[in-house]
Amino acid sequence: MNILLTGGAGYIATHTCLELLKAGHRAVIVDNYVNSQPEAVSRLEELAGQPVPHYVADVADREAMDRIFSENAFDAVIHFAGLKAVGESVHQPLRYYRNNLDTTLTLCETMQAHGVRRLVFSSSATVYGVPDEVPLREDMFCKGCTNPYGWTKYMIEKILGGVCDADPEWSVVLLRYFNPIGAHESGRIGEDPQGIPNNLMPFITQVAAGRLDHLSVFGNDYDTPDGTGVRDYIHVVDLARGHVAACDYAAGHAGCEIINLGTGVGYSVLDIVNAFERVNGVKIPYVIGPRRPGDVDACYADPAKARALLHWEAEKTLDDMCRDAWRWQSANPRGYRG
Ligand code: UD1
Repeated sequence: MNILLTGGAGYIATHTCLELLKAGHRAVIVDNYVNSQPEAVSRLEELAGQPVPHYVADVADREAMDRIFSENAFDAVIHFAGLKAVGESVHQPLRYYRNNLDTTLTLCETMQAHGVRRLVFSSSATVYGVPDEVPLREDMFCKGCTNPYGWTKYMIEKILGGVCDADPEWSVVLLRYFNPIGAHESGRIGEDPQGIPNNLMPFITQVAAGRLDHLSVFGNDYDTPDGTGVRDYIHVVDLARGHVAACDYAAGHAGCEIINLGTGVGYSVLDIVNAFERVNGVKIPYVIGPRRPGDVDACYADPAKARALLHWEAEKTLDDMCRDAWRWQSANPRGYRG
């Protein structure tokens, strides 16, 4: 298949692009580099051993998108483009709604106009909100999100569901990611957050690198075995393989399917710190701080549907995730900026 990756220079997208190429697909990237670096595409091309066609454009720019679709015969699109910082979305809700919804609507209209009706969307476990029980299954009722970022994912799921209801030729897979961490084992591509990281693993790797002096553990009074928050961490390369499987699935089915991409195993913040220290032989000084608003005790997937429909499951271990995250960070102390 010839597949367009919106937001293709990002963390999950670059890893997915590599797996798509390895599986024999062709891939084209569109990115406006608002939260990514052209260097990520150069590194991707180096790992792939081939050029990856890429366009610098905003997915909300209809003219640009029409040109891209006219110049390429796409079989499917993976829609990664979107703003994704939870805290920032609370302070800039309009920017988040405008950007994430406009890009999706423009993309779908462009796809419709060019007869492309196969779409895989980067959704998030955040749409489950505060869960009543774990593990989380796709058929559970989502009671509401805790921030505008999460609501954009929720709304886009509804929009794409409506598109499929209206036109039975559409095939959409909504992938609900749990907590992607780690990096390609080469250490050449990885997560490169701007400023101080919000998420746990990039924070830990920057502490390990000496860029930050300690980790704050956000609360140790949760209803979990050691009191710290439990999440379903998944290696980004496993997640990337899940996208390849989702594209294959979308090619053989119509309608809208929601699928969790997680391991089904929950680890606490302290499990991650301890594993990182053990695997990499580096100390992570930490202090216990207050809870972060909006955080939940435990969040992990029931991965059964992905196994059944996509014939996919996560294979890498927590040790792999810690080792690969550190290999990337230690080889690239300032991310793609050197
Ligand atoms: C967060 C977002 C989620 C988003 C995902 C993207 C919230 C409420 N949720 O998930 O919507 O899809 O990132 O990756 O922000 N922690 C610390 N210290 C830190 C950072 C994190 O103790 O400096 C803890 C958190 O309290 C949590 C765990 O580590 O228990 C994971 O946090 P994080 O990596 O930010 O992911 P989520 O909050 O699960």
